[in-house]
Amino acid sequence: MKAQEMREIFINFFLEREHKEIPSASLLPDNDPSVLFTTAGMHPLVPYLLGERHPQGKCLVNIQKCLRTDDIDEVGDDFHHTYFEMLGNWSLGNYFKQEAIMMSYEFLTSKLGIPTSKLAVTVFGGYKEIPKDIEAYERWKNIGLNDSQIFYGGMEENWWGPAGKTGPCGPDTEIFYDTGKVPCGNNCSPLCNCGRFVEIWNNVFMQYNKDSEGNFTVLNQKNVDTGMSLERILAVYNNVSNNYETDLFEPIISKIEELAGVLRTKDNIRDFRIVVDHMRAATFVIGDPKKVVPSNTEQGYIARRLIRRSIRYIRKIGVTENILSEIVEVIISINAPAYPELYINKEFILEQVAKEYLSFITTLDRGIKKAEQFFNDVPAGESLSGELAFKLYDTFGFPIEFTEELATEKGIIVDIDGFKTKYHEHQEESRGGADGKFKGGLADHSDQTTRLHTATHLLNAALRKILGNEVYQRGSNITSERLRFDFSFDRKLTDEELYKVSQIVNEAILKDIPVQCQEMTVDEARLSGAIGIFNQKYGEIVKVYSIEGYSKEICGGPHVLNTHELGSFKILKEESSSSGVRRIKAVIEAPTA
Ligand code: SER
Repeated sequence: MKAQEMREIFINFFLEREHKEIPSASLLPDNDPSVLFTTAGMHPLVPYLLGERHPQGKCLVNIQKCLRTDDIDEVGDDFHHTYFEMLGNWSLGNYFKQEAIMMSYEFLTSKLGIPTSKLAVTVFGGYKEIPKDIEAYERWKNIGLNDSQIFYGGMEENWWGPAGKTGPCGPDTEIFYDTGKVPCGNNCSPLCNCGRFVEIWNNVFMQYNKDSEGNFTVLNQKNVDTGMSLERILAVYNNVSNNYETDLFEPIISKIEELAGVLRTKDNIRDFRIVVDHMRAATFVIGDPKKVVPSNTEQGYIARRLIRRSIRYIRKIGVTENILSEIVEVIISINAPAYPELYINKEFILEQVAKEYLSFITTLDRGIKKAEQFFNDVPAGESLSGELAFKLYDTFGFPIEFTEELATEKGIIVDIDGFKTKYHEHQEESRGGADGKFKGGLADHSDQTTRLHTATHLLNAALRKILGNEVYQRGSNITSERLRFDFSFDRKLTDEELYKVSQIVNEAILKDIPVQCQEMTVDEARLSGAIGIFNQKYGEIVKVYSIEGYSKEICGGPHVLNTHELGSFKILKEESSSSGVRRIKAVIEAPTA
């Protein structure tokens, strides 16, 4: 079976069961500064899992583009990726455990024809005051699994979320496929991670909220959040031993073989897979509807890392020419039918990848010169210190593998342990910085971020009033301290303009205007004069938030009920963000009474 057929079978299965399909959100989360990428299908749905009404109703299904950098070291094995597609179904306070488990089971066995005997599941075994999930266990038994196929796991294995520090979370039941590999011992189970069982689907029963003190309280709305990797279920269905033997990857590997004149072997297959995985992820990041330019910060930094790592592994396979664009072309042709943004942004992606290649080659040349200098000072028989190897890596962006390669040519040894020590010291220091964000974590949906969200709408409206309607939102990033708003405009704002903008926002706050929410189709929203740049994400029916006399915007929410909840608004800074885009940082002070 091909990937597209699996996508359709999955979506149709849930459409036939009263679910509504929602499109994949961008790989770059909206209004969420705590995480760089969308890491799960539930991620764009957090407000709705917390009780906000979703315009499409209570039962949803979709395929979400996801990126997880915390699995990067596993990439190269049979089943892990950085970028992947998550098939998911959700109940926002509608059905719960009984129905969710039944539907997963029916999909896998009746729809895909996987025999019950090939399945194994884990369920939550209890932790402190939270009881073990006997209901899920019994459900699996009633359905037809026997006791030797159901296992209780702990907090590590069978609890999901919150994705950030606080938020919705709950026990889960994970569904595994028994590959038939030889058991690792008498107690071999999905919990031992020996490779015999592959996790294919996770059903999370989001019935708790974790607060900032670490307490769990039962949510009013009991949700179901499920996630299954398209890549894995496709491999399992097709009875191949790894994801790379599906039509999502196979043509890319063949292309690299052709370009390199080197065939895959047991020894180099991991190198091929890393290139394929990373270039696929980089293509989706750069070609996202929000477009990302490789750089040294945030998402751009990840795109850069993915490309540079690919170049390294391409060289390891034995190719020194630039073959990135040919690889990207194949990736686009496989994926663009399902993700048309890749067609639309094709030129942009190719251009960015080509630039990145050149800049890395320049970095490498500088690194090689510096490395030569360092090596010249190493006395015969001694090794290059970990400190200098780290300096090459950290200051000159020179990968440690390259240092090792050069050293080998010169008969010098590199102190790798010393390098690792330095590397880990550095990581400790930067924890909490960009690296911390890769691990996930969602924005808090506190009252203050909700206020800032509404303030952002007022700011957007005020800018359009003062500067003209060619001003469009280009990005928004809200923390509990401040809002940051990027918009299209090609010069610095004058003090007077800034003053007028904040005056308009404060005037709206003082007028005590109710913030109203209406649901309508995208076309009705446009006709009504609503603005909004993320409209396609919500499908047919969208929410339109209006602040009478000021703003009307398509948006998922949440927002305050009345503008007076914002207190007062102040612009802290106006600066350039990128060419043709300005950035405003602003704060609000909550009302005193
Ligand atoms: N949020 C859960 C996961 O990512 C289920 O979708 O595994």
